[in-house]
Amino acid sequence: MEKSSGKKNTAVLISGRGSNLRSLIKYSKTKKSLIKIVLVVSDNLFAKGLNYANKSNINNIVIKYSNRKSFEDRLLKLLKKNNIDLICLAGFMKILSGKFIKKFNKTILNIHPSLLPKYKGLNTHNRAVQNKDKYSGATVHIVNKKLDSGKIILQKKVKILKSDSGKSLEKKVLKIEHKLYPKAIIRLLTNY
Ligand code: GRF
Repeated sequence: MEKSSGKKNTAVLISGRGSNLRSLIKYSKTKKSLIKIVLVVSDNLFAKGLNYANKSNINNIVIKYSNRKSFEDRLLKLLKKNNIDLICLAGFMKILSGKFIKKFNKTILNIHPSLLPKYKGLNTHNRAVQNKDKYSGATVHIVNKKLDSGKIILQKKVKILKSDSGKSLEKKVLKIEHKLYPKAIIRLLTNY
């Protein structure tokens, strides 16, 4: 815990576009923010999201993913060095091992673009449209060793229209994700 501000030292892990990272950075800059983003880690050198970290002068590091063990060992060292209290996965496309989760021993959050427990894994929007679901949405949950299965912190629904495609649904869901992630962090950290 960072003593002076009382904010949780947070690391955000990304693999690509980084629009959720951008919304978390925006939240972290608000006066009442409960987190301070001190580290952004990507497994992908070309992740666009790294630009958001750079623009805000947030320490950002690419760890090449040659195998899980070496990636996780390096990540754990970095997290320790930076006194990280909370990890937020934001479009991070690798699966963290049970060993890693145990060793880190603090909360890891993830945002997933479906109403979990429906549609774990990839391609959530097309699956929801193909199944003619009436609603989809986004979920923020705690990461455990089973994929997309940890305790749900917060969910928000969106309506699926007959005219929606996987792409248009993705856009709608992404928009609510950007509000949901900061809200879920507040809920987690204040028990609200
Ligand atoms: C989001 O839809 C998120 O729910 C999922 O991956 C996507 C990442 O988008 N886990 P971005 O990189 O945050 O723009």
